[in-house]
Amino acid sequence: MKLRTAPRSIAGMLIWVVISSRAGVFSQSPSAKHSTVPRTWDDVAISQLEVPLANPIGSPKHITADYYYKIPVRPIYKQYPVYAPGREPAGYLDWLKQQEPVILWNDAGVKPELATETDWLKAGEVVFDAPILYSIENKGGFQMEDVRNSAWYEKSGMPLTPDGVLPFMHYVIREKGRIELGSFSCGMCHTRVMPGGKIVKGAQGNLPFGPALAHSAAFPWPVWQELFAMPWMHPDPLDRLRPLSDEQVRALLASAPPGTAARHRGSLFEPIQVPSLIDVKDRHYLDRTGLQQQHSIVDLMRYAALNQGADFLASFDGFIPDDIPNFKRLPDPSDPIRVGGRYSDEQLYALALYVYSLQPPPNPNRFDAAAAHGQKIFQREGCVACHTPPLYTNNKLTPALGFAIPADHLAKYEILPISVGTDPDLTLKTRRGTGYYKVPALTGVWYRSMFGHSGWCATLEDWLDPKRLNDDYVPTGFRPYGLKTYAVKGHPFGLDLSAQEKKDLIAFLKTL
Ligand code: HEC
Ligand code: HEC
Repeated sequence: MKLRTAPRSIAGMLIWVVISSRAGVFSQSPSAKHSTVPRTWDDVAISQLEVPLANPIGSPKHITADYYYKIPVRPIYKQYPVYAPGREPAGYLDWLKQQEPVILWNDAGVKPELATETDWLKAGEVVFDAPILYSIENKGGFQMEDVRNSAWYEKSGMPLTPDGVLPFMHYVIREKGRIELGSFSCGMCHTRVMPGGKIVKGAQGNLPFGPALAHSAAFPWPVWQELFAMPWMHPDPLDRLRPLSDEQVRALLASAPPGTAARHRGSLFEPIQVPSLIDVKDRHYLDRTGLQQQHSIVDLMRYAALNQGADFLASFDGFIPDDIPNFKRLPDPSDPIRVGGRYSDEQLYALALYVYSLQPPPNPNRFDAAAAHGQKIFQREGCVACHTPPLYTNNKLTPALGFAIPADHLAKYEILPISVGTDPDLTLKTRRGTGYYKVPALTGVWYRSMFGHSGWCATLEDWLDPKRLNDDYVPTGFRPYGLKTYAVKGHPFGLDLSAQEKKDLIAFLKTL
């Protein structure tokens, strides 16, 4: 199917693309002196940041600035590499036990040098790598026993660096003699081990998150509620989990391949493709469902604050995720178990500057004759209307099947009122679901995998294969739990090309 065949809409759409492009909004460069750190939590800005949920009754009412700034800042400690079993230097754990705790950044005067641009970026990388959960307090999830057990690596297919280092988690010494595993840093999910073992931070992560969790300590039921429940919906989509045995839940977790993850506020049944953060600066909407708007760098700071703790404190029609197991009352902001902590504004600013500075790995694919032909096909087929250069996205939201665009949205958000027809459940039935899917950027598809919002297609070849529409199709990426076959519906563009045209189109896409 070619989009240009859509009745009369395309010309108007292209004009719209031009006039609504908000060039300039993103043009401020991070090279200015960073003496004024933006304020992360502003009540008005936070209340307008998210696109409402598809069923707006459940849209979160976020905590107030007053509450947010009462949450203690988590100190960031020095961390040490985790080696796979058999790869660890002799006596490593004994040596670690001798180490004094070293705080790199806290709220009480310890902080890295922040004089030059380079200092800020280095400091931002420290925040990117800083864990927010520690094995000792963590009930369920990644544990010391996991990273010291070779079966955990084998069963999850865990990628390692050539030195045998697990790049997604670290050991931390917060108390002399006690080794803890730190996890859930940004780097845990947003670090990619390339073929050959090179690490690219911020590229689509390839931690096998689900498969690794499937072989870790089980989560108690209230934690699943905290992560995914929507009690205002009838039935609550999480109810599907109730009848499953522990073994079935593990199989469900393992169904999400590396490159996808069941992010909180999403669903175990619909994992989400892990995005690349390289180029994120230019994206007007964050998350596949376009949940959060990004007008400037402070919005990325807000994204990090919300997703690493603060959105668990919001009230979703009275349901407050962090108030386990009653989900009714806002916990005390200094509660170390329920609330945990937050990043300081300065840490978030450094983090956002660092994320904005990320560069793609060198692309081995050359723009040759095949790619040049592919580029023509990309234009001819109307891909450019949605995947508009140079970002290869028009930065718009498209409604999912079954979602009626509320009248006031057309003026408030950037919407292309055409549905591409992919599976609507992630955006209709989750706490991240707005009723829309954004048009994703195609930059970096040469090193990414797991295409489509839930990552059904491992390769571009599979995404452009018309056989994926058939009921007997076996997805090469995410295959929904319990199904042997699954039709990957929607996004019919480029499916009817000849084999040669498809090859050339893919050759072009791989140069982006
Ligand atoms: C447990 C894994 C995990 C952790 C930890 C994590 N992320 Fe993500 N991140 C994801 C997944 C999965 C998505 C896709 C969510 C979606 O599309 O709804 C995502 C989406 C994003 C996006 C949206 C990008 C886009 O184009 O849509 C940004 C920005 C981001 N993460 C930044 C961060 C930062 C910064 C941190 C640390 C403060 C972090 N993430 C921690 C897994 C994680
Ligand atoms: C009407 C707008 C539109 C047109 C035209 C369009 N796309 Fe897309 N494209 C989308 C949307 C929306 C998605 C995400 C769908 C989802 O995940 O549910 C997407 C996803 C993709 C993806 C997967 C990317 C990822 O990260 O998951 C690729 C690759 C892609 N499109 C390539 C193309 C090509 C090639 C063409 C032309 C043959 C094309 N698209 C035409 C809107 C469009």
